[in-house]
Amino acid sequence: MSDKNQVNTAKLSSARFTEATDAFVEEFTASIMFDKRMYKQDIQGSVAHAHMLVKAGILNTEELNSIIDGLAQVEAEMASGKFEWSIAQEDIHMNIEARLTALIGITGKKLHTGRSRNDQVATDIRLYLRDEIDLILPAMKHLQEGIISLAEKEYDTIMPGFTHLQTAQPVTFGHHMMAWYEMITRDVERLVDCRKRVNSMPLGSAALAGTTYPIDRQITADLLHFDRISENSLDGVSDRDFAIEFNAFASIFMMHLSRFSEELVLWSSAQFKFIDLPDRFCTGSSIMPQKKNPDVPELVRGKTGRVYGHLMSLLTLMKSQPLAYNKDNQEDKEPLFDTVDTIKGSLRAFGDMIPAIIVNKEATYAAAKSGFSTATDLADYLVNKGLPFRDAHEVVGLAVAHGVQVKLDLSEMSLETLQGFHASITEDVFKVLTLEGSVAARNHLGGTAPRQVKMAIERAKAALKA
Ligand code: ARG
Repeated sequence: MSDKNQVNTAKLSSARFTEATDAFVEEFTASIMFDKRMYKQDIQGSVAHAHMLVKAGILNTEELNSIIDGLAQVEAEMASGKFEWSIAQEDIHMNIEARLTALIGITGKKLHTGRSRNDQVATDIRLYLRDEIDLILPAMKHLQEGIISLAEKEYDTIMPGFTHLQTAQPVTFGHHMMAWYEMITRDVERLVDCRKRVNSMPLGSAALAGTTYPIDRQITADLLHFDRISENSLDGVSDRDFAIEFNAFASIFMMHLSRFSEELVLWSSAQFKFIDLPDRFCTGSSIMPQKKNPDVPELVRGKTGRVYGHLMSLLTLMKSQPLAYNKDNQEDKEPLFDTVDTIKGSLRAFGDMIPAIIVNKEATYAAAKSGFSTATDLADYLVNKGLPFRDAHEVVGLAVAHGVQVKLDLSEMSLETLQGFHASITEDVFKVLTLEGSVAARNHLGGTAPRQVKMAIERAKAALKA
């Protein structure tokens, strides 16, 4: 035990230096404050590396077992919050190695044979991000299921569809929800695709050029469940485009959630009254007793900004960086971590909130009825009677102008009044002027007819099961 305690765990590279690192510089250049988040992945990578070193004849089994036991203890200390993090040890890699060496002696120092912190950190971030992606994907699926369940409940509920935020044509609430389902589904596809490039192993690139030891990268790749091994050591240590890609996915996803949020905020207002957000997702005002604020969607809308910001940070961080590793790269972690946290939080909030939304069918119906939303249906009706579409458009325009004046919807006008706009109009016009008739008529793949919404929901459910 006593000789182990004499093992020098002093700061890295100190032998070459004639003066100690300035205290401020030490703190300024350290990353332990944030990269400690990757301690599990760092240890996982080290265990795999140690196994490989045995196969390569660099470590013996006794040393391997000692390293594995030591790392297990370090991990336990970190997990329990008992570990004493050291700024002097700069980062997660050095903190772990120093503690391991203090625990098991000289063998701890052999672990770093054939690797560098440069390939080690690149490996850690990929393992970390892969773990997070594997948590984010099920959370996205939970959100997709929530959207589907609301769409199913409201598959034939009529609401106004908007363009320019003006009432355009009636749509079904289920159809509107399934539009969100489509967007989130594309986001899932993007993330699944991103994961392929995340899951490539840089370990073995060493500092930048590879290593002189007879390493076998396939062994570590298999142990760490990497699908690919990076093909070029310079690229291996310097590539961060997988992180940029993840942040690009996250930005698009948050953009979608911000649009979704905006609609929920509008719809839950006293002016729309389309939906009720369950109280548990809202807060009150400290001064206005009547207020129920849609804080969750507002916050998600707001948090979109920081995720865009992180994308810009990472792109700018990598811009013009010469090969290979540069200390700049240490700045990749905080934006990435915060993006992961933001995505996970937003997903949790949305996943729970969406299926609990209460739709006020009377309000959505009344709103659809009030904005001449079946005007296009009347135009289509006239086209069926033989009018060119442009003329039909003109006729309906006059009918709407009249409706605005006398405060009547097209469906509320008498047959005689309607015939005054065009003689070809007969009793059957009322079938197309009703909201139900209007949505039911859009009965093709991608249309808003309740029948189509039901089929879209079935397809979505089958896709989620697959
Ligand atoms: N803390 C460093 C990072 O996050 C680890 C790699 C350091 N490598 C080096 N050559 N200084 O990038």
